Amino acid sequence: MDARLNMLGANASGGAAIDVKAEINRLRKERNAVILAHYYQAPEIQDIADFVGDSLDLSKKAAATDADVIAFCGVKFMAEVAKILSPQKTVILPDLKAGCSLEDSCPPEAFAKFRRAHPDHISLTYINCSAAVKAESDIIVTSSSAEKIINQLPADQKILFAPDKHLGAWLNRKTGRDMLLWDGTCMVHEKFSVTELLKLKAQHPAAPVLAHPECPAPILELAHYIGATSGILNYALNSPEPTVIVATEPNIIHQMQKAAPHKTFIGAPGADGNCGCNMCPYMALNTMEKLYLSLRDLTPQIEVPEDVRVKAKRSLDRMLEMAGNVSAVPVRGD
Ligand code: 13P
Ligand code: SF4
Repeated sequence: MDARLNMLGANASGGAAIDVKAEINRLRKERNAVILAHYYQAPEIQDIADFVGDSLDLSKKAAATDADVIAFCGVKFMAEVAKILSPQKTVILPDLKAGCSLEDSCPPEAFAKFRRAHPDHISLTYINCSAAVKAESDIIVTSSSAEKIINQLPADQKILFAPDKHLGAWLNRKTGRDMLLWDGTCMVHEKFSVTELLKLKAQHPAAPVLAHPECPAPILELAHYIGATSGILNYALNSPEPTVIVATEPNIIHQMQKAAPHKTFIGAPGADGNCGCNMCPYMALNTMEKLYLSLRDLTPQIEVPEDVRVKAKRSLDRMLEMAGNVSAVPVRGD
């Protein structure tokens, strides 16, 4: 464990407890910091953030902010995007070990080999990848922007899609393309159980099922709506049904409950019938205590080698241009 966390615990049990929330608020002002959080962060982190959003919203916020420090509460590839787009800013991530199984599935050397094997294809790459893979890519997409971006490419353009094979297969079905898919998956979205979801649907026959496109096809076939986290949130709030089933990381339900406390939002179950197994273990590494320490010490900081950053920015800028005004307005924390 981080020795700084031990110290924090000692202070708290010794009576001179630190008010972590108040300290975060103080340091945010002192550092001229903006706190950006993804919908999969713990509720208390979402509530203290300046903005909560999906990957695309957060990229746009990171590119546009005039803060000196971006405290990124999400996973490492998201914080790297903030650094790539705003290199003059200090970007901190409460826990540097907050990775992503999709990023892990796509090592840069193997990806470069994949590209070399298909010289007549362009590479459309999901934002859930390392800065080095972004640097080797032509266009980055998020799940909220991918369809719009693909539809701007000539119909006969050959495309490689990495690293999420489920998102890629769903995009192929939606756009009628035949993109060549990398064999990567999200360890969280893969755990939803078709059998348990069918049982839940039988108990709540009127409840729409909302699913993230990182889910495998048999789960997506049971969904009434498929989209990015921002789209799932919008659909859940606008649906006239009082009960909604949510097949993505369950921390997003926090925003739903805050905005519509009269409605019931049920997390889709994993194989053991307990939706707890669909929490993202990487997102969960960030805590309020680690956010406080990172603002206090300005560490851990995200660094991206300049040659990689410049190349990765090209593919991210293409995404921002082509995505235009695609996704929902991010939610402001408390
Ligand atoms: P969104 O772009 O929908 O926020 O998804 C990010 C992610 O990591 C999903 O697992
Ligand atoms: Fe990566 Fe899946 Fe976690 Fe999203 S939910 S950050 S894709 S491991």
